[in-house]
Amino acid sequence: MKKLKEAKELHEPVLLNEVLEALRVKEIARSKKACYIDATVGLGGHTREIVKAGARVLGIEADLYSLEIARERLKEACPTLESDDHFQGSFILTHGNFIEIEKIAKDNGFESVEGILFDLGISSFQLEGKNAGFSFQDPLAPLDMRIDPVSNKVKASDLLKVLNETQLIELFTVVLNTAKSRLVAKAIVRERAKKDIQTVGDFLYTIRGIFRPKRGQNVATLPFLALRIAVNSELENLKITLPAAFNLLNLGGKLVVICFHSGEDRIVKHFFITKEKEGVARLLTKKPIVPSYEEIQRNPRARSAKMRILEKI
Ligand SMILES: C[S@@+](CC[C@H](N)C(=O)[O-])C[C@H]1O[C@@H](n2cnc3c(N)ncnc32)[C@H](O)[C@@H]1O
Repeated sequence: MKKLKEAKELHEPVLLNEVLEALRVKEIARSKKACYIDATVGLGGHTREIVKAGARVLGIEADLYSLEIARERLKEACPTLESDDHFQGSFILTHGNFIEIEKIAKDNGFESVEGILFDLGISSFQLEGKNAGFSFQDPLAPLDMRIDPVSNKVKASDLLKVLNETQLIELFTVVLNTAKSRLVAKAIVRERAKKDIQTVGDFLYTIRGIFRPKRGQNVATLPFLALRIAVNSELENLKITLPAAFNLLNLGGKLVVICFHSGEDRIVKHFFITKEKEGVARLLTKKPIVPSYEEIQRNPRARSAKMRILEKI
């Protein structure tokens, strides 16, 4: 129960109403016995509302701990709905990586769906609530950053140990400019010659002095983000998964993606434009949808969210 309470306090689904509208959940959930996939189920915030509207949802989540909480939250909100009783508002939750979306969908009878949601990255619950080294708030935490330690054996501290300077520069240029990436890479090479960089505090010490404080952003935000993206192969996974997800959509089905940084958003935008040019999809968001001022005030994590919608035609 404690976990559940913490999760409720720590995580509010981003752009919830906009997602429900994009997926046309209220209009079609009951009338068409609609199936959806939530490829990043997290704590079940979006899934819960889709299920409550009467749809059937397949949820995929790489983090077992979050999945367990999502299950509890969904059961609490929709106590009778986890069942094989298809088509009256139900859910199936699976532990896995969304790069396997086609297989997971087929194994669970979700090969043609009305919509697929990707709410990328990690939840505030993962960032704040777990000892995985995602956050720079706890210097003693191991520098791990794996979303799924069951299938991923390489921690952030391992990458800092084995990558050469050029590879480190490449890793950081995903979110930093080249000059800063070089400085960070050099600092890592210098520091690891003296001592392994194993904890959050070790990494913070290594990059000290490289970044100037900016209002509203900790100096460690971007280097931490770059490391997390690399550890979890986030950009590669997204590139592989978008075409697979598109294949699972019915005609008229929607692909809805919420990104939190420009690396992801570039991949999504490029994929959506390519599909429109091929004449197989319509881009429903020429400009991304962003959270309202009120949402950002309530939930600061939402501030960098950008949502794009593609319709299969
Ligand atoms: C922003 S959170 C989603 C929050 C969710 N929409 C909610 O409202 O509770 C993103 C989730 O995606 C999961 N995730 C990230 N990469 C994944 C992947 N490749 N496969 C499956 N899940 C992934 C993370 O563990 C995290 O729980």
